[in-house]
Amino acid sequence: MIRASGPLDVPVYVFDAYGTLFDVHSATMRNSELVGPDAQRLSDLWRAKQLEYSWVYALMGAYRDFWSLTESALDVAAARIGGLTAEARQALLSAYLELSAYPEAESVLRELKARGAKTAILSNGSPDMLASAVKAGGLAGLLDATLSVDGLKTYKTDPRAYRLAQERFGVAPHEISFQSSNRWDVAGAAAFGFRAVWVNRTNGPDEYADFPPARRIADLSELLAT
Ligand code: LAC
Repeated sequence: MIRASGPLDVPVYVFDAYGTLFDVHSATMRNSELVGPDAQRLSDLWRAKQLEYSWVYALMGAYRDFWSLTESALDVAAARIGGLTAEARQALLSAYLELSAYPEAESVLRELKARGAKTAILSNGSPDMLASAVKAGGLAGLLDATLSVDGLKTYKTDPRAYRLAQERFGVAPHEISFQSSNRWDVAGAAAFGFRAVWVNRTNGPDEYADFPPARRIADLSELLAT
């Protein structure tokens, strides 16, 4: 449970979007009948390919925006499970723009705001995708900023991505608590100097031992518990 009050460790809380505030698998799960028995596999492949493309294009210096990567990733994932109907493809892409927020996301952001924290999203997502997800997830009004890497034409874990948040709030890196369920993103944030918090929603094994999180939590509600 969230404590009613209490001092915060840092003045700024920045959140990864996909997988951390928003459940990326909700797009496929909502349409599982259209997709068929391989829905979970499709969803896992879709996410893995989306991330792979972000790193590959960024390393090539050939940036493509995250929405176009999300579309290409769905197409290859669909081919791997034997194809999707045009109707299913459209339903999945539409659902990706209105992902479910995790149940605790809204109350945690509200409590952080009540205690005087600044809050933000820092995401690889394209600005339109993020605006749509924030609105659909009911998080508008609880965020001081929604920061996309799109203007930089590169992706996390490039340090310039994390610097966006630091520059937006004008604080030292260690004054920002950065929450992500993506262990690779936690490594990037720790390397930059943020207080990196791993939201280990799936109870997965640790990775990137050379860039450990400052804290490990199972979901965001633990963020405000001591
Ligand atoms: C994000 C994805 C990559 O940056 O999780 O929101």
